[in-house]
Amino acid sequence: MSNHEVLPLHGQVAQAVAEAIERARPELAGADPVVRRSERADFQSNAALALAKRARIKPADLAAGIVAALDGGAVGSVEVSGPGFLNISVPDRALWGQVAARLSGPRLGVGAPEEGRRTVVDYSAPNIAKEMHVGHLRTTIIGDSLVRVLGFLGAEVFRQNHLGDWGTQFGMLIQFLDEHPEATWHHDELSGGTSAVSALDELYKAARKKFDTDEAFADRSRARVVSLQSGDPATLARWKEIVAESEKAFRDIYDRLDVLLTPEDSVGESFYNPMLLDTITELVDAGIAVDSEGALVVLSQEVTGPDDKPVPLMVRKRDGGYGYDTTDLATIRYRIHDLKANRLLYVTDSRQALHFRLIFEAARRAGWLTDGIDATHVAYGTVLGPDGRPFKTRAGGTVRLMDLLDDAVARARAVVTEKNPDLDAAKLDQIAEQAGIGAVKYADLSISRVKDYAFDVDRMVSFTGNTGVYLQYAHARIRSILRKAGDPEVTIDPTIPLEPAGRALALELDEYSATLADVNDTLEPHRLCGYLYDLARDFTTFYEACHVLNAEEPVRSNRLALCQLTARTLKHGLGLLGITAPERM
Ligand code: ARG
Repeated sequence: MSNHEVLPLHGQVAQAVAEAIERARPELAGADPVVRRSERADFQSNAALALAKRARIKPADLAAGIVAALDGGAVGSVEVSGPGFLNISVPDRALWGQVAARLSGPRLGVGAPEEGRRTVVDYSAPNIAKEMHVGHLRTTIIGDSLVRVLGFLGAEVFRQNHLGDWGTQFGMLIQFLDEHPEATWHHDELSGGTSAVSALDELYKAARKKFDTDEAFADRSRARVVSLQSGDPATLARWKEIVAESEKAFRDIYDRLDVLLTPEDSVGESFYNPMLLDTITELVDAGIAVDSEGALVVLSQEVTGPDDKPVPLMVRKRDGGYGYDTTDLATIRYRIHDLKANRLLYVTDSRQALHFRLIFEAARRAGWLTDGIDATHVAYGTVLGPDGRPFKTRAGGTVRLMDLLDDAVARARAVVTEKNPDLDAAKLDQIAEQAGIGAVKYADLSISRVKDYAFDVDRMVSFTGNTGVYLQYAHARIRSILRKAGDPEVTIDPTIPLEPAGRALALELDEYSATLADVNDTLEPHRLCGYLYDLARDFTTFYEACHVLNAEEPVRSNRLALCQLTARTLKHGLGLLGITAPERM
């Protein structure tokens, strides 16, 4: 246990009930005490009902036995209700104790259960010379939040930006660029917000067209692929230039989104080139990769296609080329053997579910992915347009990410100005940026990952409802209260009784570590969003019911402590979602 860890009262109660169950009925040792938050008391345990059958007694009798065996500790009072529910309340003193303990350390009492875990998070991964699209927005936002949460919980996180930076399409593009020296696509030659990738994207389309219609150009392009793959210096230099220019454009998006990805995290497809041969040889020698009409494939032992035949993973194409499948066989092998990772997360859209299932299966058969190493495809759904249909511009083109972000920031600026017309221009710029970007991130993170969602900017920047702006505002409001109080160092008097609203708030604050543990297990950041939203609402109820600034001491200090811990938890939680919490809004 790390120094600053505060054991949640919820966990302590569950522990006490589990021990009482064992004392009352030794044969039930190890059973789940089923302790939940409750409306009737602080917590409720359904254990007696769940276990009575196994113990062959009446639930009410088992409940009475458990109560008799409870020995105080975290549990203040307990009552049996209905057919055998245990209604449990914790003492006010214990609640104040945990508020004080959480306030006293920088980690808000959260431990580091992931310490020792080496975790790879593969996310963002846009394709070179192609515009980043809304799909990449999701992997970037979700992946970044997971990096933050898991890292905070103590994991050693390896961010891997698996850029699509290799492949036969670059032969075509490089050949085309050479034959069209007039084409402008470098960052500094472009104007009007056009990025190098969007220029390259257009040039690539032109190259493709020429490839399909001009036989001679197609031949020259194929020869160019060979030059690229055999490391011809001029071709390689051209390719590097394309990669660098594209990365510049991606970086603009990353900076704007305020994500943790750095240039060192770019470990694209090309990085694995030198490893492909060894990877393949290992699979062939083990009899896992087999010939199929001249191609080399791994046939799944778990998944069959519509024709009832095993689904293949393409290890080497008939023309000798390597593709997406081959590279991902190399990523998993490298991450396990070289990075020594024991948790591998691949954050991509749910349409790639089969791909990763096959990769994980092959890695298991190859003996790379062994027990104790966890590989997960962190899948997510599609971003739809505000009308719920596929997201396209009015002209039917792909929506530029920068435009989306600009739009969100502009609308955030409008709602913030309306709420707080007195902000000076520089402050307003900053807050609008934080609110607009936060709104986009929160909208993405606050729904269950696999669901599709409609990109509705007006809803995202609303001050009401489950939005990032609402939470940022809730935080700013508490900060304003605390500023008015002079941001004091408060001492809590644990003998002060808690009113129901204060007690509900303290109990919610007690759930922070469990919420983060839940995000860690499920890889669902929306659990954290939901928690922060509940916390903000519990605070509102508390603040409506209880005076803070004009309360008498020592009650005032105790209530200020609740305000402080709520503000710090909101800010910290938003931070783990990658969202900034401004001081004022
Ligand atoms: N570049 C791919 C795309 O745009 C995503 C790569 C995800 N990572 C991986 N290891 N396959 O769809």
